Amino acid sequence: MGEDGAPAWPTSRQRVFRVINIAQGSSQGDFHSAQSLGVILGVRGGHARVAIPVGEARATVGDFVRIYAGSRRLIGMITEMETQGASGAAVPETAIASIDVMGEIVQDAQGRDHFRRGVSAHPAIGDAAGVATRQDLRLIHEGDADSATIGALHHDEAIPARISISDMLNKHFAVLGSTGVGKSSGVAVILNAVLDTAPNVRVFLLDGHNEFARCFGARANIVHPRNLKLPFWLFNFEEFVDVVYGGRPAVEEELEILSEHIPVAKGMYLAQRASQSDRFGLRKIDPRRAGFTVDTPVPYLLADLVNLIDERMGKLENRATRMHCHRLIARLEALRSDPRYGFMFENANVGGDTMAEILTHLFRLEPNGQPITVMQLAGLPTEVTDAVVCVVARMAFDFGLWSDGAAPMLFVCEEAHRYAPADRGAGFAPTRRALMRIAKEGRKYGVYLGLVTQRPGELDPTIISQCNTLFAMRLANERDQELLRSAVTDAVANLLDFIPSLGTREVVAFGEGLPLPTRLRFTELPAERLPRSETFRLEGWDEEVGAERGFVRQVVERWRGAAGGGRLVEDAAPAPESVAPPAKPTPVDVHSASARLDQLRAQILKRGPGAS
Ligand SMILES: Nc1ncnc2c1ncn2[C@@H]1O[C@H](COP(=O)(O)OP(=O)(O)O)[C@@H](O)[C@H]1O
Ligand SMILES: [Mg+2]
Repeated sequence: MGEDGAPAWPTSRQRVFRVINIAQGSSQGDFHSAQSLGVILGVRGGHARVAIPVGEARATVGDFVRIYAGSRRLIGMITEMETQGASGAAVPETAIASIDVMGEIVQDAQGRDHFRRGVSAHPAIGDAAGVATRQDLRLIHEGDADSATIGALHHDEAIPARISISDMLNKHFAVLGSTGVGKSSGVAVILNAVLDTAPNVRVFLLDGHNEFARCFGARANIVHPRNLKLPFWLFNFEEFVDVVYGGRPAVEEELEILSEHIPVAKGMYLAQRASQSDRFGLRKIDPRRAGFTVDTPVPYLLADLVNLIDERMGKLENRATRMHCHRLIARLEALRSDPRYGFMFENANVGGDTMAEILTHLFRLEPNGQPITVMQLAGLPTEVTDAVVCVVARMAFDFGLWSDGAAPMLFVCEEAHRYAPADRGAGFAPTRRALMRIAKEGRKYGVYLGLVTQRPGELDPTIISQCNTLFAMRLANERDQELLRSAVTDAVANLLDFIPSLGTREVVAFGEGLPLPTRLRFTELPAERLPRSETFRLEGWDEEVGAERGFVRQVVERWRGAAGGGRLVEDAAPAPESVAPPAKPTPVDVHSASARLDQLRAQILKRGPGAS
């Protein structure tokens, strides 16, 4: 619509070609500083065509132009360039540029120039167009107090590329690109910008390759398999079952037994606690009528569950069902004594309602200077990774829901195609569902999603379509490029043609978080802040390490521990030789040996099934 409320489409009179000297624009203040291109030949919707005399100015696809539309300065992007030769002429005389008009520069009450998306009037035939000046680009990317710099423009390295943090978070974002193009580093840049600009936003980052620990300095709370605490009773039924059966299909009869007894075990725990705090025995709770479901996240003792199943087994005549009970108990006992599952089953028979502390710690509800959690996943048993990711994603959403969005949180998922694959038959369905809920409803409760993937074609299209701000880096795979192109407007699709040829750190970014679709280069991270995998490298193994007796003993100890054995190694160790370390390794030894073991394990796990 025009200023007077009338449609601003060109009238038929305007459509008559008027040759207007470009110099007409010179009355418009700084127009001279813009390199002139040509005049508007035609307008259709938000698109305009400009005739450019060949050889006069250099402009190409992706360049920004400014158009003088009466008193307005419109900003557009060249989406296509073609030549139009006069018949008979060997060299074409005129180039035709197709332009998407995307925004305009307006003045505020103080007379200061501002850029805003969308236009209030359209260009008319004959209006002059020029290459956008550095000042124009600056205005476009200036942003406001809510914006943060994440890099520099491809068009002009001197101009910072800024994103609007709240716009980006509110409608979720995704970082896409082949391996090695700088996705993880880009994520580190973006998340640091979020932390700098939105101090009340908590960040939760799923770090599949243990590479982000160093990216946020002292601001990060690092959760790794050795300090993770996620009691089994926080898992809902599907998640718990996935752990019990290691991701393999469960046995129907055993499921029935579990689903019958878990609520009772929860009731027993409540009854026990109630009777402890009730000296006069006034409150009696019937465990079978406590009103818990298999999914209620309240504590119970694993021993209670096992006892219940055991009791049931004693009463049974049917041999087959007895067998199921027996197997189930064996499964539960095996998990409880497996040190790799310590993060779930430590204190399994002691109890204690630690849910509030766990939420506070994981989701930084009392940040204490550490508003971001980096959750390292390499080193967890591969069979439980899906369930663990599911639990944290579900809890992130549920906390937002039950707290009415009191603590805004950004949930960032690397290797997202693994947890929400396009193939509905692959992956762990509840994890996809948990991520989908954040994608679809999260913003209502202040839970925002950031997805990172090297295979956008393999990521659930519904989830990715909820991500409004996209950072597209180099993508080699045709199918991945197709997917991106199908999701965007023509103007952006033209920019995406650059995708296969982008360099490291280079990105085409577009969507809510940016003023205009922008080709930019992420800020360079200092070496000590680069994401770096802590996985073990071959050259890291040297004679010295091999000779560290303490190290090898640690390996054996863990090995036996994992197989359910005790700590026999220390007792059985032969007397140390002259150069050998003492039988009880010094704290330094223990630490480095332990760290090396984690590296080693991470490497082994990477080769395991489901690793990418
Ligand atoms: N923003 C950046 N600053 C400095 N170096 C970078 C940056 N982005 C990428 N690199 C270089 O490229 C390498 C690969 O980047 P990375 O973020 O790990 O890629 P991806 O996650 O896509 O596999 C890094 O190790 C680093 O050497
Ligand atoms: Mg990476």
